[in-house]
Amino acid sequence: MLSGSKVGLRARHEEDVAVLRTELFDDVVNSSRAEGGPWRPIPPGTKDPRLVAEDVEDQRVPFSVVELAGGTLVGMATLWGIDTHNRCAHIGLGLRPSCRGKGYGTDAVAVLCRYGFTVRGLHRLQIETLSDNAAMLASAERNGFVREGVLRSSAWVMGEFLDEVLLGLLAAEWKPTRP
Ligand SMILES: CC(C)(COP(=O)(O)OP(=O)(O)OC[C@H]1O[C@@H](n2cnc3c(N)ncnc32)[C@H](O)[C@@H]1OP(=O)(O)O)[C@@H](O)C(=O)NCCC(=O)NCCS
Repeated sequence: MLSGSKVGLRARHEEDVAVLRTELFDDVVNSSRAEGGPWRPIPPGTKDPRLVAEDVEDQRVPFSVVELAGGTLVGMATLWGIDTHNRCAHIGLGLRPSCRGKGYGTDAVAVLCRYGFTVRGLHRLQIETLSDNAAMLASAERNGFVREGVLRSSAWVMGEFLDEVLLGLLAAEWKPTRP
């Protein structure tokens, strides 16, 4: 497990899947805002690639996020679109509703940066989020991510086009909070 100051990132366990599906993917609004595609219901037992416990692809590493104190599951984190030629990847994060606003998102981004830069030797990490997602923007910027642009009307979300913000962080700019 990779630990931050509040949360740890560990492998996806089979028992995490039902909780994450119910709290993150069954919720139409949350799912529509966090995913780049349309919400659709996921039948229990389906091997949804966003949730499966196995590391299915080289370009994607799924983590479950847990509280360091007690090990309670608080959400999911993903390093995705890993490009080993250009040495870059994207970060994705989703926390259970009851676990938001406690600093876990900021800490999870810090741990994902450590995984991307230190463990994987990447050069650049990228985040795309809706321009009204204040908590995600702050979680990224607290870790040194820089706003690089606005993708105007790039996301169709629940009946309207919304802007996305593109944020990037280079390895040379990253200031690790722990070794
Ligand atoms: C986005 C998300 C991962 C952020 O994690 P979090 O644990 O809630 O965020 P934190 O508690 O670390 O807060 C980070 C900052 O945002 C602020 N913040 C938190 N919730 C906020 C809210 N609802 N509105 C405005 N600001 C908020 C905090 O005050 C903090 O600011 P600070 O750095 O100035 O102290 C989490 O809220 C989440 O899972 N949301 C739903 C899914 C989602 O949007 N995923 C991202 C898709 S790209």
